[in-house]
Amino acid sequence: MELLTTSDGRPLVVRPAAPSDAPLVIAVVDAVCRERRYMMTERFLPGPEWQEALGMIPRSGWKLLLVAECEGRIVGWCRAFADTVSPFARHTAEVGIGILKPYREIGIGTHLLRQTIQGSREAHLEKLTAAIFAINERALNLFIGRGFRVTGRRYRQFNLDGRYIDELLLERFL
Ligand SMILES: CC(C)(COP(=O)(O)OP(=O)(O)OC[C@H]1O[C@@H](n2cnc3c(N)ncnc32)[C@H](O)[C@@H]1OP(=O)(O)O)[C@@H](O)C(=O)NCCC(=O)NCCS
Repeated sequence: MELLTTSDGRPLVVRPAAPSDAPLVIAVVDAVCRERRYMMTERFLPGPEWQEALGMIPRSGWKLLLVAECEGRIVGWCRAFADTVSPFARHTAEVGIGILKPYREIGIGTHLLRQTIQGSREAHLEKLTAAIFAINERALNLFIGRGFRVTGRRYRQFNLDGRYIDELLLERFL
């Protein structure tokens, strides 16, 4: 656990999620999904990967789930889940991140992603990947600023309420 501050001076803690955090983490992920602007699902989907990361079932592969705490509440998360689909891609992990609306643009995403990169490196992962809506400039700035590069584009991959959106694929070697 590291004691940090937001860019406007509020104390911030970034730490691994504990099983007891599960309901609060789920609520935060769900709230960001329900904005229907940034995430690829419209609500939190409790798939096995998330259940593993939240300590609800035994882990089948490497997973890192960090939470950001500010003003006594969990306000964001960053996760890196190693690929468990292919036995030949276990050196890679996919990153996802989100912060509650009132806590954005004060450096929390930067702290979360930096520590996720560090934790992934310490776990001897070799590459992180991410998939982001091409219109999500803030997320792109966050990832590119932390050493990710855009390696692919899937045109019109999503149709969000009648509006087509390209998906950008990003990666960063560790
Ligand atoms: C994307 C997100 C995680 C970024 O975290 P954050 O705490 O808001 O961002 P930070 O304050 O750490 O700033 C990160 C970068 O975005 C830039 N940024 C901040 N506000 C911005 C804006 N309105 N437009 C464009 N870039 C912006 C910052 O300058 C910084 O870039 P830098 O490192 O080059 O200086 C957060 O805004 C969020 O949760 N958004 C909704 C969910 C989402 O988009 N998730 C990503 C999809 S995987």
